[in-house]
Amino acid sequence: MSLVCFPFKEEDVAIVVRNLDCAASHPAVTGILCVGFSRGETWCAIENAKPLLEKTYNVRVVLIQQKRYGNALRGGKGDGMNTALGYFLEHPEYTRIHFYDADIVSFSAEWITKAEKQADLGYDVVRHYFPRSSTDAMITWFVTKVGFALLWPRTVLSEIEQPLGGELLLTQRAVEVLFNDPRVRAQSDWGIDTLYTFVAGQAGLSLSEVYISEGKVHALYGGLRDLRTMLIECFSAIQSLKNENVPVGGIHRMESAKAVPELVKQKVGYDIEKTLKLLKSHWTPRQRELLQQHFDSVLVKGLLNASEWPSWSFADEDCWVGAYHKFLEHFEKGDEDWEELLFKVWVCRVLNHTVRNVLRGYDAAMGSLRDFIWDTVQKSTLQQFKLSASAPIHTLASGHSAFESLANGKGKLRKKPKWETDSDNMCIVKQ
Ligand code: DGY
Repeated sequence: MSLVCFPFKEEDVAIVVRNLDCAASHPAVTGILCVGFSRGETWCAIENAKPLLEKTYNVRVVLIQQKRYGNALRGGKGDGMNTALGYFLEHPEYTRIHFYDADIVSFSAEWITKAEKQADLGYDVVRHYFPRSSTDAMITWFVTKVGFALLWPRTVLSEIEQPLGGELLLTQRAVEVLFNDPRVRAQSDWGIDTLYTFVAGQAGLSLSEVYISEGKVHALYGGLRDLRTMLIECFSAIQSLKNENVPVGGIHRMESAKAVPELVKQKVGYDIEKTLKLLKSHWTPRQRELLQQHFDSVLVKGLLNASEWPSWSFADEDCWVGAYHKFLEHFEKGDEDWEELLFKVWVCRVLNHTVRNVLRGYDAAMGSLRDFIWDTVQKSTLQQFKLSASAPIHTLASGHSAFESLANGKGKLRKKPKWETDSDNMCIVKQ
């Protein structure tokens, strides 16, 4: 008896209704829950579609507006997802809940079937993962995956392919763990995916990741400015967890990936021209002060140059890791200057990746991202070993806060990382 939840805002109505129909017709599904941010056109369309769906498929279709759980943060996706968890726990006739974005054009019954099959094997959480463009998922790669790799390298968190993914199945046990955790209920904004992933890992819930080969085709964004709020909220979620311990290891299964569709390979994830302008704008004297006060001279010089003329070559992987440590330590959410600095440094990192790696082709670009995470896990693990000098590899818990070990390691990666492109090699396509 599964409940499928579609959180929604204002979406393409025809796609939403098609997705509801698809979920309602699935044999494992007995309920559809639509959680609306507000009551607009999409809400009305779902209300109109409801009677026919209920009659045709003998399912219950429920439409509710999201509640306010996390009063300290902006009310957004987190409140929506948590509203669904609250509903699920009040309706014990359901044993599993699925989440899917309402606007996915490529959604099909297979998404539900794949997740159900893994839950049948006893996994507490099933996450969907997809092939993505090499310029998409820039928060996933440079904030969440790197953050997990730096802070909890020996745990399941550092292995999760798409830790920000909003498509997932949770069993009753998983929902109880998540909803009963006050940190989860407080995370009402974009940080919710980080919290669900983190808390599930910390609680030792078993995880399976299933692969959806056609990818998640949905509305994309323009310039990187569209992602600013999400970036800040996702980073801040990681920062709020930096002193937490997570058990080493964990049960994690992952379906292997298949050939990536050409459409995904060729997609450019963001508007580069619009993005270049961002480096020159919104500077304040205090941003310059904070920069000088906290950051490495290469970054300071590079970012100040970028305020005059678009430049990003300084923002390589080493530079980003060094800056990430500083942001973990000093960043203040709600402080406009800190937020703008985080955004600008991240924009430079994304541009650097685009020009140094993406131009060498899809496989080289994805390879460089994977190498970056792999190398970060390696370095951070060694730092943690050094810190707790006697800790053998089979230790069951980190035993100290991840952030403590970072502070000791000073965030240095090896001098010449394997993802580095020599400048005289720039035109050689290595695949
Ligand atoms: C991410 O980084 O995964 C966000 O969805 C933006 O693409």
